Amino acid sequence: MTMAGRRPLVAGNWKMNGLRSSIGVVETVRKDLPKDLLDRVDVLICPPSTLISSCVAAVYGSPIAIGGQNLHAKPSGAFTGSISAEMLADLGAKYVIVGHSERRAYHHETDDGVHAKALGARRAGLCGIICVGETKEEREEGRTLDIVRAQLAIGVPKGATGADTVIAYEPVWAIGTGLTPTPADIAEVHASLREMLGQLIGPEAAKVRILYGGSVKPGNARDLMAVDNVDGALVGGASLVAEDFIGIANAYAR
Ligand code: 13P
Repeated sequence: MTMAGRRPLVAGNWKMNGLRSSIGVVETVRKDLPKDLLDRVDVLICPPSTLISSCVAAVYGSPIAIGGQNLHAKPSGAFTGSISAEMLADLGAKYVIVGHSERRAYHHETDDGVHAKALGARRAGLCGIICVGETKEEREEGRTLDIVRAQLAIGVPKGATGADTVIAYEPVWAIGTGLTPTPADIAEVHASLREMLGQLIGPEAAKVRILYGGSVKPGNARDLMAVDNVDGALVGGASLVAEDFIGIANAYAR
């Protein structure tokens, strides 16, 4: 548990990486993760949707969860190429990432769209991981807190709970770059997000996990986890390598 009594969540986002041969990564994570770690930390892997079914089979009988990276807000309909929360849940997914900055940047997702998707996730019984984060320009202009608070205020649905909602703070400029904010900067943003959550959902805010994401590696995971209000990690590149992902999970198990 974190000092505030929240159970850490270490989540891997494979993005558009992984073929059937990559199931071996999930099998290795399952085999090599220390068994007692899963008593203390929630571990999640979000592969591309083509691999969800096989990943669910690969973790069957273990507490490791599998999640989606995106969803359509509607349960079904004439939306060619889209996947609903119900479809993800039907495959055995437990979580879904909502509003990742790459979706916002390349697929024009808006905060209102994120809100609708978060509602879709809840409707199907999935836990939505709502992503927020500022660009390099926004940080340089001193607008980080305004940006992430606005993303949160619009994105998080009324009545969100610690069971159906996770927040991920992912500064856009830290994703895939090897750069990370200082622990003090992360602490400032996470505290501000926690305070904003309090305004939005009241005392339940204390139960919502806020992950940090952006160039999390085995070498920096321990320092990041030590930051106040950091309840886990959303890991991109390093989650593709079983050993690295396990190394990160180990840092959160302390
Ligand atoms: P990296 O860990 O590769 O920086 O990616 C972070 C991310 O975008 C996870 O969602």
